[in-house]
Amino acid sequence: MSVTTSDEALSDSYALETHGLIKRFGASTAVDGVDLRVPRGSAFGYLGPNGAGKTTLIRVLLGLTRADGGSMSLLGYSVPRHRDQALVRVGAIVDEPRFSGHLTGRQNLQILAAAREPEAPGRIDASLERVGLSHRANDRVSKYSMGMRQRLGVASCLLGDPQLLILDEPMNGLDPAGMQDMRAMIRSFVAEGRTVVLSSHLLDEIERTCDAVAIVDHGKVIRQGPIAELLAGTPLELQVECSTPPHALALLKETNLDAAISVNDGGLTLVFAANTNREVIAEVNRVLVEGGVSVYRLQADQASLESWFLEVTSRLGGPE
Ligand SMILES: Nc1ncnc2c1ncn2[C@@H]1O[C@H](COP(=O)(O)OP(=O)(O)OP(=O)(O)O)[C@@H](O)[C@H]1O
Ligand SMILES: [Mg+2]
Repeated sequence: MSVTTSDEALSDSYALETHGLIKRFGASTAVDGVDLRVPRGSAFGYLGPNGAGKTTLIRVLLGLTRADGGSMSLLGYSVPRHRDQALVRVGAIVDEPRFSGHLTGRQNLQILAAAREPEAPGRIDASLERVGLSHRANDRVSKYSMGMRQRLGVASCLLGDPQLLILDEPMNGLDPAGMQDMRAMIRSFVAEGRTVVLSSHLLDEIERTCDAVAIVDHGKVIRQGPIAELLAGTPLELQVECSTPPHALALLKETNLDAAISVNDGGLTLVFAANTNREVIAEVNRVLVEGGVSVYRLQADQASLESWFLEVTSRLGGPE
């Protein structure tokens, strides 16, 4: 058992770590044995369809609801035991950021800053500037667009000079330009050495914004790692258009190619294991041509993260 004292947060530890985290609502399990390791100074996406348990995980991390099992740490502090120390350097938005509409953006930040450390009020101007809201800071929040509220939410996160930002669906309600701004803002936080954990159901946004991802479905993390590594783990599919598909199949079966082969109208489909060297494509071509088969077209596809995401989430999406 590790014993952590209040000022003993380890600088080389993960920004966020969970082990076997569980949260149940009655008979259903919204967070089901989640293990996460988020390296410091990275953008990490928690990606899953609606109802996958993203918001619930964030609520558990922040202590807004209690875990039913497992353990977790934020910035090296074990929580809930040392939650107060950890949260000093955490900025978070859960669901939609909520503000008082009859107050201005700046007044809302003043109230939030007053509840934080003594340095927080001095960070208000820089935070507004950072999210591009300085020129609207003295307007009432009720007049803000959705995108401006999201920005104000990020500004409120910055009041504590956070080492870790946890953003629940930060792209929600943003138009394409707003999404681009949010993405650039997130990357600029990472460039400063901060860690950003964001949840999303938008694969495309995660792919563009994050260094690593955990894919979650029905409360369970089904894959986790650097995006490039996850993509390398997808099968290689080769479409072959050729004459005499049955003959082509027979020729390929005589070789020791490690592929699942099926015959279709105009040719064959071969599926190779992940990490297969693309030399196999040339090998297939050679075997067929030398065996007297005319090859009209060869097309190799690595599944896109999108098709793979849809496949893994729906494959596991059986009855609850
Ligand atoms: N307070 C609650 N009481 C009962 N069930 C809940 C509660 N909060 C969430 N759930 C259930 O937990 C599951 C996960 O919900 P959660 O809001 O965490 O999903 P999500 O991934 O954030 O979804 P979305 O993309 O729609 O925001 C859902 O089945 C939901 O109905
Ligand atoms: Mg949610």
